[in-house]
Amino acid sequence: MRKYIILLLLITLVTVVSGCQQKQYSAENTDKSNINTEHKSEPVSLMGEEEEPDQENETSSEEDTEADKKEALEVVENPASVSIVVNKQRKLPDGYEPPDLVEADVSYYAPEGDPKRLIRQEAAGALESLFAAAKQEGLELVAVSGYRSYQRQKVIYENNVAANGQEHADKFSAKPGTSEHQTGLAMDVASAALVSVLEQSFIETDEGQWLEDHAHEHGFIIRYPEGKEDITGYSYEPWHLRYVGKDIASEIYEAQSTLEEYFGLLP
Ligand code: DAL
Ligand code: ZN
Repeated sequence: MRKYIILLLLITLVTVVSGCQQKQYSAENTDKSNINTEHKSEPVSLMGEEEEPDQENETSSEEDTEADKKEALEVVENPASVSIVVNKQRKLPDGYEPPDLVEADVSYYAPEGDPKRLIRQEAAGALESLFAAAKQEGLELVAVSGYRSYQRQKVIYENNVAANGQEHADKFSAKPGTSEHQTGLAMDVASAALVSVLEQSFIETDEGQWLEDHAHEHGFIIRYPEGKEDITGYSYEPWHLRYVGKDIASEIYEAQSTLEEYFGLLP
């Protein structure tokens, strides 16, 4: 009997000790993942447009379909056209990926191989001529964020909602499937000297001023101009360039209008 009691005590002791070790192990794991997350942040802020998420927050595609149905957005028929209009009323077809993404020969903020450096071929040539023209004026532009997949836009949008609330997020971030970045025809640009403060104050830099007056000469428009929020659905984004080709860009620039006004697609 005495032997039996000692054996029972021993078993209990072993169980308690191994339980503690298990707890210590998981606590260590949690600490490590916190350190990794802290080091993942990105200095560029596009009013929440491009902030890195702490965690990729996935929801099921079923939920997406439900949300789309509720909003009843029109699906665009010609997503690869350079004059395509996507906005809060018009979304890209499910699974759309642009056909001819390339890296332009310009200064980038993101490291080599990052999909943010991608833009469609025709727009890449135009971006190169835009950056070269700026350089001739002594201005240094940096390309910050071009192509984004549906999934990446989803993470950015959800992260912005979580950080700043839905009202703020909807002014600066497109819902997945409705971002021009998914078309491969948009590029967010910054002044090289101020790349870490890419916000509305970009327009106060020499680069921001020059872009406003010259982007159209290379086929780009400032897609979300000041004072047109009710038409475009977004706050002023002096950094967001959209390639549409020289003819349309020049007409929009001369008329001081928007892509929606140009195509008579007012919300
Ligand atoms: N910032 C623009 C609206 C986008 O998220 O595509
Ligand atoms: Zn943008």
